Amino acid sequence: MSEPAYHPGLEGVIAGETAISTIAGGSGLRYRGYAIEDLAREASFEEVAYLILHGELPAAAALKDFCSRLAAAAPLQGEVLDFMRSVPRDTPIMDFLRTAASALAHFDAEAVDTNSEAQLRKAERLLAQFPTVLAAQRRIQQGKEPINPDPQKSFAANLLWMLRGEEPSPQLERAMDVSLTLYAEHEFNASTFAARVITSTLSDLHSSIAGAIGALKGPLHGGANERVMEVLQEVGTAENAEPWIRQALAEKRRIMGFGHRVYKEGDPRARFLKPLCQELAVETGHEEMENMAEVIERIVVEEKGLPPNLDWPSARLYHYMGLDVTIYTPLFVVSRVTGWAAHVIEQMENNRLIRPRSRYIGPEPRPWTPIAAR
Ligand SMILES: CC(C)(COP(=O)(O)OP(=O)(O)OC[C@H]1O[C@@H](n2cnc3c(N)ncnc32)[C@H](O)[C@@H]1OP(=O)(O)O)[C@@H](O)C(=O)NCCC(=O)NCCS
Repeated sequence: MSEPAYHPGLEGVIAGETAISTIAGGSGLRYRGYAIEDLAREASFEEVAYLILHGELPAAAALKDFCSRLAAAAPLQGEVLDFMRSVPRDTPIMDFLRTAASALAHFDAEAVDTNSEAQLRKAERLLAQFPTVLAAQRRIQQGKEPINPDPQKSFAANLLWMLRGEEPSPQLERAMDVSLTLYAEHEFNASTFAARVITSTLSDLHSSIAGAIGALKGPLHGGANERVMEVLQEVGTAENAEPWIRQALAEKRRIMGFGHRVYKEGDPRARFLKPLCQELAVETGHEEMENMAEVIERIVVEEKGLPPNLDWPSARLYHYMGLDVTIYTPLFVVSRVTGWAAHVIEQMENNRLIRPRSRYIGPEPRPWTPIAAR
């Protein structure tokens, strides 16, 4: 029998079917058939989240009900807040979100119910709860009181409100809304695939989301947006950008925020976000960092042929919004939970256990050696 083909990192392998999103022709991204540029330009994140979870854009009444359900689920139980206060202050927020995905299951009456309607209700609750958890944990770390969610505000404005305790400007609200839309879903990326593998054993939604957060945390995936900001802070000035990047490339360093497993011609999400990032840089007086980023981008493209991915502009966007770098990857979670949950539901509805094979490269068969003879 001939050996099946081996593809390290499953590169180029079709590992399942999905109706949720597609990277059309390797260059454009569509959620449920809609181009992300149209969604980012025209729709609110709430509409996009509804589309991803429920399959269609909501009519006005359905959107209103959806927003009411999110607002009702957003406040945290006292026990959850007490638990958050008991966690060491220096716990990375991303680690805490992974814990929270697990802990919230204990307070969800439908935690073990894997039927699609229950999974959807739980997904909406997690979508509502993660912003509150993220903002409350950040404020507890800073020695401040958590701020209650405001049901009158949009998803993006409420998130900024709970984090900063001040009304966001329309520009900041829009920038957050667009970044949430762009981060919401991305077919079979590593964290989504991890969620689908967990679901394929018929495990529950909260377990799949906890696993997905663990996968997202790594610097080759969601963790890249925090590393991008560390790099820009290390470079420091526009003047230093060219010598810094040339030396980094000469040392064969991996430049965070560049390259992508699928988008070899450029990430359409990064292309969309760049002008918004430039506008916000001017509005918030961050032109120097924008110039620095431009020099680095030009040289990485010229020298390596590697275009930027979404994390390159989004890290700057969050910085210009005055947000702390430790919450950049957690913000990705707040948005991507929609995509993960939709994949969990899709996997469960048409399940086959995900169990590939490996190519064995270990020792040849050998005889047993008793311990006294080793
Ligand atoms: C995302 C990523 C893991 C995809 O990588 P991949 O498909 O596995 O591609 P490879 O790692 O095999 O890279 C192919 C070549 O490009 C180089 N390369 C890829 N991304 C690079 C980067 N960001 N900086 C420098 N070189 C890079 C590799 O060194 C390799 O070069 P080689 O053939 O001379 O060894 C990779 O581009 C990366 O590490 N990027 C930085 C992290 C990041 O921004 N992640 C967020 C992704 S949305």
